[in-house]
Amino acid sequence: MKPYADRREAVLADMRARGGGIAIIPTAREAMRNSDADYPYRHDSYFYYLTGFIEPESVLVLVAGKTSQTILFCREKNLEREIWDGYRFGPEAAREKFGLDAAFPIDAMDTEVPKLMANAAAIFYALGSDARLDAQVQGWLNAVRGQARAGITAPAAVLDIRVLLNEMRLRKDPTEIDVMRRAAKISAVAHERAMRLSRPGMHEYEIEAELLHEFRRNGSQYPAYTSIVATGANSCVLHYRAGDAVLKDGDLVLIDAGCELDSYASDITRTYPANGKFSGPQKALYEIVLAAQAAAIAEIRPGKRFTDGHDAAVRVLAQGMLDTGLLDAKKVGSLDDVIAKGDFRQFYMHRTGHWLGMDVHDVGEYRDPVPEGEEKPWRTLEAGMALTVEPGIYVRPGEGVPEQFWNIGIRIEDDAVVTHDGCDILSEDAPKSVADIEAIMRQGK
Ligand code: GLY
Ligand code: MN
Ligand code: MN
Repeated sequence: MKPYADRREAVLADMRARGGGIAIIPTAREAMRNSDADYPYRHDSYFYYLTGFIEPESVLVLVAGKTSQTILFCREKNLEREIWDGYRFGPEAAREKFGLDAAFPIDAMDTEVPKLMANAAAIFYALGSDARLDAQVQGWLNAVRGQARAGITAPAAVLDIRVLLNEMRLRKDPTEIDVMRRAAKISAVAHERAMRLSRPGMHEYEIEAELLHEFRRNGSQYPAYTSIVATGANSCVLHYRAGDAVLKDGDLVLIDAGCELDSYASDITRTYPANGKFSGPQKALYEIVLAAQAAAIAEIRPGKRFTDGHDAAVRVLAQGMLDTGLLDAKKVGSLDDVIAKGDFRQFYMHRTGHWLGMDVHDVGEYRDPVPEGEEKPWRTLEAGMALTVEPGIYVRPGEGVPEQFWNIGIRIEDDAVVTHDGCDILSEDAPKSVADIEAIMRQGK
């Protein structure tokens, strides 16, 4: 359990650098879906990052005081419950297996945490994300304050532990990059499968089933987010989900789907013609989005800013909008005018990427921590940072919009990890060029 122990050491060192104290990091709660049927359980990403432990009802406590302590609170062994719900470690086995200094039953927090909090300089805790635990933390804090006349000092500050952890999570270590690479490969195969099996007449949900089949048969535990399978006009609805629309000859299919593998997300979008052959207008816009993505990817390397890729993509997209007549140069002016005034947003209204990791929209500040003058500049890329690159063009019918482009929605999304001199595209196995997509779809026929 080395990466987890190393990460706990790093957090303890950071806490110490900030004056020391006690960190409280809970996992996620189980949630009911309807009546007594529950949602599939997913542990909290911060908690998992520091423990590798996936049982619910668990809390990690780190103490950076005169000495360091790592303590796990978790469910007790319970043979009766284990008959129904399966194996649980229990504190003793969990301590041993996951390499903590100590472990207690979760119900012991009310007695143990106030003792650990006594004389701690600060509490490192994500206030506001779990109301029940917030109330417990306040109770423990008040219990410690009540011992003032016994010479015990209570923590004087509450600091958000996420500030420390977000910085760490932003830079992926080799173990993480390896899992992300495997997750992206599974998703890429799933996208290829969807292309191969698509036919006019199929429903969006049938394509979704093919994606889920490929995710699961390769060991993915869940989709990293709800899959989008959008055909025809639905491809212009950014947060559309796979519905029951039928793939029509002549329409595009936009799929934004990625699996989660061992707690890490992948996030891939591909767009292809339902009948296997791009029409002229579809191909024209597709090539623009593809060129925009290439321009953005060329901006990913150490020293570049997070937004350089977006700015490069916008230039290519906006020029393409002018070239195709989506934007009328007589009305909107030059390329620089279109960019300065933001007219391109009619057809490209989102940003070109986000951090990717355990969460699909992963944590990590998008600004550098150190201000330059008045404001913090956009984040400087460093090796190990992972991000998506996902330009698009979405054409809703409208006055002045050339009709040949109506209802064409295209996005192309890949997953990149910054390397020492550029970036690695983890999702490159998913077919992307017009020629490759058309060839794959011919094979499927
Ligand atoms: N699938 C979510 C996103 O692309 O950001
Ligand atoms: Mn996506
Ligand atoms: Mn994305």
